[in-house]
Amino acid sequence: MLQCPRCGGSCSALPPVCKSCGFGFPTYAGIPVLVARPHELVDQWSFRLAEFEASNDATRVRIIADVATKSLSPGARARLERLARGLALQRERIVAVLGEAGISALARRSPEPEGVPSEGSITSYLHHVHRDWAWDDEGSIENREALAAVARVLEPQPQLGAVLVIGAGACRLASDLHAYGRADVTIAVDINPLPMLVARRVIAGDSVRLVELPVAPRDLEHVFVERSLHAEHVVRDGFVQLFADAFALPFAPGSFDTVVTPWFIDQVPRDLASFLPVIRGLLRPGGRWINHGPLIYHPSHTELAARYGSDEVLALAKAAGLVVQRSRADRLPYLQSPACTRGRAEMVFTFVAARVEVVEPELGAPTPPAWIVDRSLSVPRFDGLDGYEPPHPLFGAVVRLIDGERSTDQIAAVLVRDFHLPVDAAGQGVGSCLAEIWRATRQ
Ligand SMILES: C[S@@+](CC[C@H](N)C(=O)[O-])C[C@H]1O[C@@H](n2cnc3c(N)ncnc32)[C@H](O)[C@@H]1O
Repeated sequence: MLQCPRCGGSCSALPPVCKSCGFGFPTYAGIPVLVARPHELVDQWSFRLAEFEASNDATRVRIIADVATKSLSPGARARLERLARGLALQRERIVAVLGEAGISALARRSPEPEGVPSEGSITSYLHHVHRDWAWDDEGSIENREALAAVARVLEPQPQLGAVLVIGAGACRLASDLHAYGRADVTIAVDINPLPMLVARRVIAGDSVRLVELPVAPRDLEHVFVERSLHAEHVVRDGFVQLFADAFALPFAPGSFDTVVTPWFIDQVPRDLASFLPVIRGLLRPGGRWINHGPLIYHPSHTELAARYGSDEVLALAKAAGLVVQRSRADRLPYLQSPACTRGRAEMVFTFVAARVEVVEPELGAPTPPAWIVDRSLSVPRFDGLDGYEPPHPLFGAVVRLIDGERSTDQIAAVLVRDFHLPVDAAGQGVGSCLAEIWRATRQ
């Protein structure tokens, strides 16, 4: 089912080589990196590792200077000294996990590509990694509750067949579902190295030593906590991890019986409406989409109009040919570390939707083309452009820049240069303009 993300040809799995263009994709700790430009992605991981090391070092130096120069109470001194030790240990362990996979620090040479805010660091999801594989031992119910919510919407048909989990992170829910739904195969994809590499070792039966630094520790003892991350149960065969981009997934259409999006649809796609056709396209007819997560959007990532409530999500899904069969809303504990005084609860929406073949015409939004979903693809001179009347000069400028070669991001770069459009908003802004122009030319 693997498709080359560069040319669309069929791809072998291990080693990952395209049978058409011959491109060989790298693997890290046995996890293939099936993205169009794998070395650029891996370079970003190395740059982030260097940034993590530098920031960890700077924090420790500051703490050590405070301990040496300030008049501190014995408690404060002990806490700061313990924090400095925890930081050093955390640095060592993270460098080791990445180093074992062949990823080492590199001074940044190219800017961080625009992505999801708060995901630009190597430790972005470190607390989730601890939650997935360490906190159960101290009574955390988060993993159990997540599986239970999904199990309830799957009843009475828990069998999952061939499963794709998009944005699997540290893979706990993905691997629990693999077991619960007796999946034939589960492919867990993500683009973030640390959670995936830890998951890889834990799932293989290893234990991984990491350090948790709670944001608001309970007491001196919990300023840092050494943890040994491990899986309670052996993960059944057929669980496969892959580094792949949700917006350019390397799979033939209709490859899966089940697609799972855990804590993903609000955080990662800029506009869920354009991502629904991707989910539908991955499913075989009659296949099921399982969603689990809240609807909490990043204001800088998702425009107000695309911050859909649960009712809108269900209506959009139906319009895209994904009819929700069962749904529930549960207020669930979220990142309530046993070591921390802080913890959240989120309203989590869990639903299962079936791919239907007939999309009701009055509801059916036309499926957006790939170049609207992926801003790095060339924008063609599509039908209707010539007679299009722009409602605003910016729309006119965008239309003039569509030459069949430039991508959305390249059009945005020209507008930044010539019209002083703000750099951080240009890509998303031009993407929205193009989606609107395309929609208007369809009417
Ligand atoms: C909110 S986290 C949820 C992680 C995990 N499902 C969980 O519940 O802990 C979103 C996940 O999506 C991943 N992600 C972000 N952009 C992605 C992309 N373009 N392709 C694949 N995964 C992506 C992130 O690395 C992160 O693991």
